[in-house]
Amino acid sequence: MPKLNHNFQKLKREIIFPIIDQKLLDLKQKNPNSKILNLGVGDIAKPIDPIVAKAISDATFEMTDPSSIHGYGPSNGYSFLKDAIVDSEYHKYKITSDEVFISHGIISDITQFEELFSKENKIAIPNPAYPVYLDSNVIAGKTGSLNLKGLFDGVTTLPCTEENNFLPAPPNTPSDIIYLCSPHNPTGAVFTRSELQDWVDFAKKNKAIILYDGAYEGFIRDPNMPKSIYEINGAKDVAIEFRSFSKTAGFTGLRCSYAVIPSNLSFDGISINALWKTRQSTKFNGVAYPIQRGAQASLSKQGQQASKAQIDDYLLQGKRIKEALVQKGFSLSGGDNSPYLWLKTPGATTSWEFFDYLLENLHIVTIPGVGFGKYGEGYIRLSSFITKETADIFLEKITEMEFTTRV
Ligand SMILES: Cc1ncc(COP(=O)(O)O)c(C=O)c1O
Repeated sequence: MPKLNHNFQKLKREIIFPIIDQKLLDLKQKNPNSKILNLGVGDIAKPIDPIVAKAISDATFEMTDPSSIHGYGPSNGYSFLKDAIVDSEYHKYKITSDEVFISHGIISDITQFEELFSKENKIAIPNPAYPVYLDSNVIAGKTGSLNLKGLFDGVTTLPCTEENNFLPAPPNTPSDIIYLCSPHNPTGAVFTRSELQDWVDFAKKNKAIILYDGAYEGFIRDPNMPKSIYEINGAKDVAIEFRSFSKTAGFTGLRCSYAVIPSNLSFDGISINALWKTRQSTKFNGVAYPIQRGAQASLSKQGQQASKAQIDDYLLQGKRIKEALVQKGFSLSGGDNSPYLWLKTPGATTSWEFFDYLLENLHIVTIPGVGFGKYGEGYIRLSSFITKETADIFLEKITEMEFTTRV
């Protein structure tokens, strides 16, 4: 009989999405004609740009020609895409294309990166955060169990609270592997250069590695906020950066991302770049050729203009929503350089109570903050991945509604 990986049973946190789906279904059955507004999901609400679609389509047809067959591609990505990434984003940090690894999603890369490290490492993870950082380590047996405080033993939890503007500073205890995300999901907070410098200095002092998730970097508009960790002195010695075409060019359904692993990043004399190369060539056969051509097109001048225009509009809808909620007396952060708004629930209302209130009374879907970790309790996340029409209806609903400090 096979022995199962019982670490899966340690994942005791509430998996919120099936619960939300069920609540939505119940609501739709009771109110079949009601327009339900979804401000919960972090998925795109706008179509991909035609220039991307054309590149994908042309590349697919290219594959019908016997003279241009594309079978298995390089597991780390085609050089045309790696070069385009370096040219458009990374040459300013002196990153070269052999330091770029193409993949089909940050979710795959960041959850599989732990394979490079042994079980003895001390891991530091923000809370609340994108849940997969913690869950992938739990599944790999790299944590203890969930304790009575609602946290995992053996993990350094980095609370993201009102006191630290919803992003953590380095802890007092040493760490070996540090997960950071900026703009942060779910709080929408963004590191300043000096805050990120503190993390890089901490990593250098502790001989730690930073796994930096830049999924939402395209939303940063403030020139004082770093878009890449490599803007920070010394970062190339301690940090890996993960980026994706998902939220910048609408690739959530197409799947293309990349990891930047500087060649000088090494521990015990072993290069992390070389280790990941081995890992990928063993377990991964690359992203589809047409998709990589589509990603390349999104980095062309026209493609970048289209992405910027889409993100500008998401940011605008987020701003409208934020202003309306602030006028209603709510306390919100995020949204300025991020697609996420982090709303403090009124009075002593829990995340789920306020979620239910908005769903049942206004037919608005959000995400309960507690779904991202214990320190998300008392908050809900609103997403600005919405169209103008959705924002317009949201604003009407909000204006009509009378909130009190306790719902
Ligand atoms: C912080 C963060 N990182 C990564 C991802 C997933 O990115 P990808 O679509 O490239 O897998 C998400 C998706 O919501 C996210 O919120």
